[in-house]
Amino acid sequence: MGLSFPEGFLWGAAGSAHQTEGNNVASDLWAMENGSGGSLPERSGDACDGYHRWREDLDIVRDLGLTAYRFSVEWARVEPVEGRISRAALAHYRRVVEGCLERGLTPVVTLHHFTSPLWFQQAGGWSSGEAVERFRRYVRAVLPILDGVEWVCTINEPNMLAMVASMMKQGKREEGVAGAMPPPDQAVADALVAAHRAAREELGTLGVKSGWTVANQNFEAAGGAEAECDAWAWPREDRFLDAAAGDDFIGVQAYTRVLIGPDGALPVPDDARRTLMGWEFYPAALGNAVRHTAARLPGVPILVTENGIATADDAERVEYTHGALTGLHDAISDGIDVRGYLHWSLLDNYEWGSWRPTFGLVEVDRETFARTVKPSARWLGGIARTGVLPA
Ligand code: NOJ
Repeated sequence: MGLSFPEGFLWGAAGSAHQTEGNNVASDLWAMENGSGGSLPERSGDACDGYHRWREDLDIVRDLGLTAYRFSVEWARVEPVEGRISRAALAHYRRVVEGCLERGLTPVVTLHHFTSPLWFQQAGGWSSGEAVERFRRYVRAVLPILDGVEWVCTINEPNMLAMVASMMKQGKREEGVAGAMPPPDQAVADALVAAHRAAREELGTLGVKSGWTVANQNFEAAGGAEAECDAWAWPREDRFLDAAAGDDFIGVQAYTRVLIGPDGALPVPDDARRTLMGWEFYPAALGNAVRHTAARLPGVPILVTENGIATADDAERVEYTHGALTGLHDAISDGIDVRGYLHWSLLDNYEWGSWRPTFGLVEVDRETFARTVKPSARWLGGIARTGVLPA
């Protein structure tokens, strides 16, 4: 006995360019990692050498029995200098799209996954009045390589981008826990919504399904702080969900919950079980996030574009994912339209400043880049092959 998922449900794994490809030298993050006074403890460097080893990675995804692969196109490679489009970079990403199709994998393509070209950042980033048109021009350049692609994510986790923008403006994180989660920068949030709409206009000419992906925080009131949770926490996520009304799909990305007290986000309780991110081990986050999203966006299909756990214990990855998929199955049984589940991540990769949190289904040797498939990958592949989550 087990839990059956719908026919045609997509089962896949995800990654992003900067975290896996290596040497993303024209990007803003590369400059932060390698410049003087950089605030990031570790650098991406060669990352997983995914820019050269993508065929091997796609073979692994196929051989596991998974049916989908999510990756991102890197704007900083496609347009390393403003207005100069790299045909070689576009040809590379076209080969990756074709590599998916040839292996029978459904590509899920993200156009912006946190990083931007350094020139874009230096020209004001998302705060510049020209940001939206700059992004539109980039999207237009990418259109020709999307032939045969069905799912396109415009911008990954705009709520995180807007929050990080407000941290950068403050120059440093405010003291205290609430300060670690400042409200999103309003101008940046507006620009991201407009950029998403501009991208959808451009993509509309292709007939692909387009949407964006939101970091679902699973806010939960603690100690009677229901009013604060409603007034302070949920609006910062919901505004980004609401912007997806009328989209072809919404990408749900859920990992844990955030407890809210009268003064904002609370630290993870001392007695809670934690992951290598320091987040609470909370597999129910996925089902909750899917339910919240469906209630906020009735009629909009959901694709789980990320869910997973940073752990050095692969059996714990299976335990977490089993819990998350059980909650997801419950939500689907209640009639919520979920089209697929993409695990974060295919590879142990660069987690924005650190190599320590290992989210991968596949281990990557940091010296040789050799890939080693973990048991959790085979377990997930088994579910993909049968469509059944074992009890
Ligand atoms: C969200 C981001 O999209 C991804 O880049 C990151 O690695 C995972 N969550 C884990 O933090």
